[in-house]
Amino acid sequence: MSSRLQFRPSRRQVLQSGLAAGAALALPRAPWAEADSVSPPVTKPIPGTGERLPVVGLGTDKFRTSARDAIQAEIKRMHELGGTVIDTAAAYGDSEMLIGDALAALGIREGLFLATKLTAGGLSGGGEASFQRSLERLRTQRIDLLQVHNLNGVDELMPALQAWKRTGRIRHIGITTSRAAQHAQMAEFMRKYPLDFIQVDYSLANRDAATTLLPLALERKIGVLANVPFGFGSLFAQLQARALPDWAGDIDAGSWGQFLLKYVVSHPAVTCAIPGSTQVMHLEDNQRAARGRLPDEPMRRRMEQFWDAMV
Ligand SMILES: NC(=O)c1ccc[n+]([C@@H]2O[C@H](COP(=O)([O-])OP(=O)(O)OC[C@H]3O[C@@H](n4cnc5c(N)ncnc54)[C@H](OP(=O)(O)O)[C@@H]3O)[C@@H](O)[C@H]2O)c1
Repeated sequence: MSSRLQFRPSRRQVLQSGLAAGAALALPRAPWAEADSVSPPVTKPIPGTGERLPVVGLGTDKFRTSARDAIQAEIKRMHELGGTVIDTAAAYGDSEMLIGDALAALGIREGLFLATKLTAGGLSGGGEASFQRSLERLRTQRIDLLQVHNLNGVDELMPALQAWKRTGRIRHIGITTSRAAQHAQMAEFMRKYPLDFIQVDYSLANRDAATTLLPLALERKIGVLANVPFGFGSLFAQLQARALPDWAGDIDAGSWGQFLLKYVVSHPAVTCAIPGSTQVMHLEDNQRAARGRLPDEPMRRRMEQFWDAMV
């Protein structure tokens, strides 16, 4: 009922973390012993190029200047654990600036896959001005993935995005949404343009994308970043009173965060999930989801039935 064994927590670790999750959603910090940290994360290929990305990245919507030190610590830890994908946006307050400062201080820009977003209008006039501002704030010459935020200006921006890709200022082109109401329009753009990535809302509790967009992404060889994998954090509140089922150990899930992420990244179309976190403890928990066995199809059905019976 599982695939890709790279790391197996002991039965004691699973039991301990399951009990902790049931009690107060406390997270299993101790199991990141030195031996664990060296095990590399599971990776998946970007369909268009074959370049591999670790299956769990970092969302940064909530990054704020008041937490500057914590953010640097979080990025440092992600890098140590082999995570590479960081998703931000011109519209996320100070997020780009804080990431740029952290990468410069740590000297780790080259090892990371930086994704940001722009719109046709709005912030700094949108378009080229927004892109230039992102480059400056992220302190980089090149963006790995530039995405049109919330489908705002896809037709207007596409010629510029394609030109920037040709000249190497960006490496991949994407479009994003986090709302089911935009999925039909996103599908139209996926058929219209040669996209490298979409970014879409997908979680155990929100499977709409799996009926339309994810099969289309597979068909058209478009990579997928899965956003809001925890329903903006709301799924933890729903799971708070419950203990992890015994069979979570069959996919090496030692916490609800790992359980939810392993469901998302085991979809064949999903390249990488980008859970948002502002705490090292959460980041470590999420990076752990990129280790060990992932659910196969029967296990994915079991997880869906578990969720559906609960809500
Ligand atoms: N339209 C778009 O393009 C769009 C829209 C929405 C989101 N996004 C992207 O997707 C990312 C993820 O979405 P999101 O951050 O809004 O929601 P999310 O990832 O579903 O949930 C984030 C929340 O979960 C908490 N959390 C994270 N890991 C945890 C763990 N292991 N255990 C317990 N709690 C945990 C975080 O707490 P702490 O902060 O305390 O760690 C935060 O409150 C965003 O940051 C952004 O990069 C894109």
